[in-house]
Amino acid sequence: MTVLTPLDEPALARLLDAAVAGADPLEVMPPVSGPPGWTSSRRDAFLAFHRGRTLDPATAVERTWVVDVDGTAVGAARLERHGDAVEAGIWLSREARGRGIGTRVTALLLAEAQRSGAARFIASTTPGNGGARALLGGIGAALTAEGDEVAAELPLS
Ligand SMILES: CC(C)(COP(=O)(O)OP(=O)(O)OC[C@H]1O[C@@H](n2cnc3c(N)ncnc32)[C@H](O)[C@@H]1OP(=O)(O)O)[C@@H](O)C(=O)NCCC(=O)NCCS
Repeated sequence: MTVLTPLDEPALARLLDAAVAGADPLEVMPPVSGPPGWTSSRRDAFLAFHRGRTLDPATAVERTWVVDVDGTAVGAARLERHGDAVEAGIWLSREARGRGIGTRVTALLLAEAQRSGAARFIASTTPGNGGARALLGGIGAALTAEGDEVAAELPLS
């Protein structure tokens, strides 16, 4: 079963393990200079990224959940408020991709967005990300290509 677990420190530790085991750093956080791979400075940056953006009330800008499948962390989902819109984001570890989990997580995020009272659900991806484009098209979002970005928007009622 796929559920969203709100991020806290224990969940963040599980999320880092999932990222290290099955995702590229650039898929899950902003670039950090240095040699490739999950160096200790990238692991520290991953923790600092989520503490700053979600866990520290003084700096938080978004809500983040760990994607748990049968009790194991396989990725993350987030919602960030931008005016009357909420921006969604998802990443899954490699072994979890292509099994319908992203579809389920998108439905859960959409339900959270509706509960939040936002007027619009938005997301952005790249033209080459067929999985993300399929997820967003699948919930009825309008997709607009703008250079290297594909913007998705769905009105919420
Ligand atoms: C993008 C991502 C979240 C999709 O989740 P997923 O669990 O792999 O997707 P699903 O298995 O639920 O498939 C959803 C749809 O995408 C399609 N799809 C999946 N992977 C695809 C791919 N690589 N190319 C084209 N279509 C793809 C599926 O066929 C399915 O289409 P359908 O609904 O018409 O049957 C996941 O692959 C991922 O985490 N990728 C790496 C990080 C990333 O790119 N995040 C998004 C950044 S915007």
